[in-house]
Amino acid sequence: MNPEKLCELAKEAMEHAYVPYSGYKVGAALLCGDGSVYQGCNIENAAYSPTNCAERTAFFKAVYDGHRAFEAIAVCGGKNGVITGAFPPCGVCRQVMREFCGDDFKVYLVNAQGFEALTLAELLPHSFSAQEHMG
Ligand code: THU
Repeated sequence: MNPEKLCELAKEAMEHAYVPYSGYKVGAALLCGDGSVYQGCNIENAAYSPTNCAERTAFFKAVYDGHRAFEAIAVCGGKNGVITGAFPPCGVCRQVMREFCGDDFKVYLVNAQGFEALTLAELLPHSFSAQEHMG
C-alpha cells in the first residue's frame, strides 16, 4: 500500500471520531506487516483523561487481532475535521508505537497539501523500550 492510500484511509477514519468536548477529529490508518490496515479515531470522555487517541485506537485494535509487526501509520486531524496542518502524535502514542515498532517505522503526517514522512526515531529520539532496556 502506498502512503497516499494510507493517508486517504486516515481521513476516512477521522469521520468516526467521537469528540463532543474538543471538536478536534483525528484519524489514523495503521499498516501491518502482512499488508492489512487498521483504522482508528479519537474517542473522548466527559472525564477528559480517559480519552483515547486515534493512533492508539488503531494499534489496540490491531494488537487485539494478533498483529505484532507494523510498517507505517498515517495520521490526520483538525478542528471539526478540517485539516489545516499536520496533527502529530502525542507523546503517549509515540511510546505505544515504540512498544511494537523500530526506528524505521514510518509516520505520515497529513497536512493541507499532502503529507510529510517521518520515522519513529525522528519523533521519539533516545526512547525507552523493552527490547533495549529491560534485558
Ligand atoms: N489526539 C489524538 O487523537 N491523537 C494525538 O496523538 C493527539 C491528540 C486527540 C485527543 C483529543 O480528543 C483531541 O485530539 C484534542 O487533544
